[in-house]
Amino acid sequence: MELLNEIKGKIKGFVEEEGKSLFETLINKHPDEFFKVLRETKPILSVPGKFVLVTRFDDVQEALSRPEVFTVKPYQRAMDPSVGPFMLARDGTTINSRDKGIMRAVLRREDLPQVREMVAGLARQAIEQGARDGQLEVVSMLSRMVPVKLTGEYFGFPGPDVETMKRWSYWTQYDMFHNQDLSELVHTNNVRSGHEMKAYLLELATQRRKEIAAGKPGNDVFSRLLETHLPDVIGFDEARILTNTMGLLVGGVETTSAAIVQILDQLFDRPEQYEALINAARQGDDATVYDICWEALRFNPINPFVVRLCAEDYTLAAGSSRETLIKAGTPVLISGRSAMMDSHQVPDPEDFISGRPAYHYMHMGYGLHTCLGDHVSRVQIPEIIKQLVLSGKVSRAPGAAGQLDFKGGPFPESFSVCIGSC
Ligand code: HEM
Repeated sequence: MELLNEIKGKIKGFVEEEGKSLFETLINKHPDEFFKVLRETKPILSVPGKFVLVTRFDDVQEALSRPEVFTVKPYQRAMDPSVGPFMLARDGTTINSRDKGIMRAVLRREDLPQVREMVAGLARQAIEQGARDGQLEVVSMLSRMVPVKLTGEYFGFPGPDVETMKRWSYWTQYDMFHNQDLSELVHTNNVRSGHEMKAYLLELATQRRKEIAAGKPGNDVFSRLLETHLPDVIGFDEARILTNTMGLLVGGVETTSAAIVQILDQLFDRPEQYEALINAARQGDDATVYDICWEALRFNPINPFVVRLCAEDYTLAAGSSRETLIKAGTPVLISGRSAMMDSHQVPDPEDFISGRPAYHYMHMGYGLHTCLGDHVSRVQIPEIIKQLVLSGKVSRAPGAAGQLDFKGGPFPESFSVCIGSC
């Protein structure tokens, strides 16, 4: 606590947040200044009886490379009763290795050109339908809309309607990744969403099986899973298919939406880099568009850290001046955001340098639980941004509408842009 107070004193313009602890305020309002001081003074911060926070690049990667020590058990509370046992809540188990292997096989890399085309078409349609008087509210009209529709078209899970899909995605993501206060309401809504999704998918599976039997198989991920015949001994049964299909919606919407608006927000403040992105988009230079987007996201990634539970006493960064014994049972907050700003591994981290090596980025996690939708996201996020900037002269909307607004919740809820002049 004393240390946090000391850190608070070092941060220019620090303002206490009402109803929040000092730690929460530091993380919410001043994450980069907070992590920078920690990396230099106390890179592995122990708050006794509460948690350990890991901030240096090497230590983040060490912790995420030891899933048997730093386990994903904390995810089970929200995932198991909703979508059922899921890869992200299991380490070194069949559920993780078998399910991830099968899911990686059906989410074929060869699909990516087709995914890009789908995303481009969905984004153009969303922009055309969503723009009002030269303004577009990106979250409701584009950044949530396209991944929901892609979940329908490519993953084969269209849902009853877009609003229901957004509701299922919202409550499941909220409880699984952002319910630090353990709100019962959030948990109940998550579990209900899981049950509703399961009931919906069961009916859809029956319908798809009839189509498959009639010789009309779909070319989407859900249909591919239903068509996959593995011996019973493998254990990849109907329940596994449903859980993993639900995981595609849970994992893919709020994450993508947050990334899109947070990238745009960064680029609007950097005219030179934004200009470079527009030029690359006009030339169809997808690699450069991607590089600029990934670098912009480093300045405001979707999450400050991932959470693990330490399963056995472990000395992190052993042999270095920062070595710290972490006791079994301690929650551990592992900060990819801080790691990506660590000058010991990432040169000139405060400068915007697009085209940094891929291994400097941890937007999609690291180690065993690296994102399943990694390759899809590397296409989907930049392609949506590309289509937006190709739709006209796109700039931040004036006033409050043009600022990222979380409306007190865990996800960006509104962010407006002008297309043309407004
Ligand atoms: C098509 C979209 C997406 C899908 C289907 C998806 C799905 C998943 C799944 C199933 C996992 C668990 C993997 C495992 O346990 O081995 C995962 C992990 C992860 N995903 Fe995604 N995801 C998507 C998009 C994104 C985006 C856009 C981001 C960030 C910009 C992201 C960040 C992460 C991170 C950081 C993890 C690791 C979590 C941890 O270590 O605790 N994902 N994702």
